[in-house]
Amino acid sequence: MIDIHTHVLPDLDDGARNDNETAALIRAELSNGVRELVFTPHYYAKKRPVECFLKQREAVVERIRPLLSVGLKTRVGAEVHLTGVNDPPSDALCSLAIEGTNCVLVELPFEGKWNGGLLTNLFRFIADTGYQPIIAHIERYEQIRKNPTLINTLVKMGCLIQLNTGAFLDKHTQKFAFCLLRHGLVHCLGTDTHNLEDRAPNYKAAKEYVKEKGYKKEWAQVQSRMRQILKNQKVENTCTPIKKLFWWYK
Ligand SMILES: [Fe+2]
Repeated sequence: MIDIHTHVLPDLDDGARNDNETAALIRAELSNGVRELVFTPHYYAKKRPVECFLKQREAVVERIRPLLSVGLKTRVGAEVHLTGVNDPPSDALCSLAIEGTNCVLVELPFEGKWNGGLLTNLFRFIADTGYQPIIAHIERYEQIRKNPTLINTLVKMGCLIQLNTGAFLDKHTQKFAFCLLRHGLVHCLGTDTHNLEDRAPNYKAAKEYVKEKGYKKEWAQVQSRMRQILKNQKVENTCTPIKKLFWWYK
């Protein structure tokens, strides 16, 4: 399985705090059945320039290379925080894409209404570059919870949708997660793991639960979409739009 969203690299964000924690997270990913993993440390434009982040990331990856198992493919990426104000320009965003792909994992504001410029900027970024934003952990935004049909807008625009594996296991989000799965609106999955205490990899448990609920075929489709993304192939858009008012119950 592929974990497309992780905070396993040490010293770059609020994920692994040192090399030992990185090694432990890698072991946990392997025991969850993950065989391909994308390192996606947080990137905040206001904290450091992109070039500085890329250099730091490269140095850390080099340092932890001996900790990586031969049974695990890895590649670099980032989780880029966007607000619609003072966001990185298009060329910087492209340089933060998942290695070998034209896809950039982006995190939008969790609380409150999104700035009007945010969606416009995303739209322009896609039109100007042909790159595809992957919206990280779609289940975590207040704006989406209030109006899930916004997901249709994002997908129409050309965005891909990432769900955290934990969304299937949390009683507050699982109805939403299964609804997205039924509509074909999950393009990729990630554990968003940060540590072994309260944000440990939970891929295996999510897989078992999803299969137990009868969504084996949909699970396999998501895995196949992720393989396509990492091969930089266009993901076929076979989703059906979420309908207002009824989405929660179907
Ligand atoms: Fe994350």
